This record gives sequence, C-alpha cells and structure tokens, in this order.
Amino acid sequence: MFQHEITLPGDQVFEIKPCGTGEITDILDIERECFGPDAWTEDFIRQVLSLTLVPGIFKKDKLIAYGVLSIRKNILSIDNLAVRKGYRRIGLASAMLELMLGTGKRNRCKRAVLQVEKDNQGAIALYEKFGFTKVRILKGYYSRHGQPAGDAWEMEGTTD
Ligand SMILES: CC(C)(COP(=O)(O)OP(=O)(O)OC[C@H]1O[C@@H](n2cnc3c(N)ncnc32)[C@H](O)[C@@H]1OP(=O)(O)O)[C@@H](O)C(=O)NCCC(=O)NCCS
Repeated sequence: MFQHEITLPGDQVFEIKPCGTGEITDILDIERECFGPDAWTEDFIRQVLSLTLVPGIFKKDKLIAYGVLSIRKNILSIDNLAVRKGYRRIGLASAMLELMLGTGKRNRCKRAVLQVEKDNQGAIALYEKFGFTKVRILKGYYSRHGQPAGDAWEMEGTTD
C-alpha cells in the first residue's frame, strides 16, 4: 500500500493514498464535473472500488483527483484519471500517472494501455508527454443509453 505527500509548485502539499468506499460521494462529484452525462454511476464506482486499485490525491482530506488502474497479463491499463477543475495544470495528473506507471512497473508490466476520447486534446497531450502514442481509433467506443456516443484513441506506452 502507498501513502505519501507530494509538494507541487506554490508549495501546495497533497497526500496520495488509496480511495475507499468513504470517497464514493467525492468520486461521483468529480466524475460528474469531468464527464457530465457519461459520468460513472454510484453503483459502478462501488464495483470499481471493490475490484481494483483507485489511488486518490487529497488536500486536507478532500479528494481532488483520482486514477483507476488494472493489470492483466502483465499489461497495465490506465482505466480512468480525473482532476477537479480548480486544480488543473499544476501537475496532479502527472503525479497520478507517475504513481500508476510505477505500480505497473513493480508488478512486472512493461506495456501500458489506455483509451481516451478522440477530441480530448488536453488528456492526449498529457499522455503524449509521458511517451504514449496513438495506436488505433476505436469507433463507437463510448455509448450513452445504449447508443454510440463517440470514438476513442487507444494509446500505448511503457512503464519506464
Ligand atoms: C486531462 C487531465 C486529467 C489533466 O490533469 P492536470 O492535472 O491538469 O494535468 P497536469 O497538470 O499534470 O498536466 C501535465 C501536462 O499535460 C498537458 N496538458 C494537461 N492538460 C492540458 C490541456 N487542457 N491542454 C493542453 N495540454 C494539457 C500539458 O503538457 C501539461 O503540462 P504543462 O501544464 O506544463 O503544459 C484533466 O484536465 C482532467 O481531469 N480532465 C477531465 C477528465 C479527463 O479528461 N480525463 C482523462 C480521461 S482519459
């Protein structure tokens, strides 16, 4: 398990530690802020928390950002990454990605994969900064109420 502090520019101190069921309301809140109608539901978040690792970044016990990762057949999958609007562009997603890639590496994953909405330029720029490249377009990857709601890029990187 991990639990440590990070200090970002402006001497802002945050704590990184795993999320648990106590964070469901905050995760739901951030999901809605970041993904609107495509936000995960409370039941789905509960399921995710029971199945996989959800590292969180906290400021004075308030959840500011979280990531979701899973490992299958020595491949790290970055399943989600979200940062509250008021705390962007200060390095929180980068800190979270470093943690997730490091976790993958410690678990013998060399490759890392993720899917990102085709027009999400900010997230794509972030992943490219970490060496991820676009591998293929996934047509109709996202759906809403059973209807196709957008394409995704599959991106691939390494844990080094
Ligand atoms: C994408 C997201 C996670 C980035 O979080 P963040 O904490 O602001 O990212 P960082 O501060 O670590 O940014 C690191 C680098 O990524 C790139 N980047 C991040 N956001 C960007 C944006 N909106 N536009 C262009 N580049 C961006 C930049 O290169 C940035 O470095 P810089 O600030 O020195 O220029 C955040 O905007 C977010 O939560 N968005 C909504 C949810 C989402 O789209 N998640 C991704 C799902 S796949």
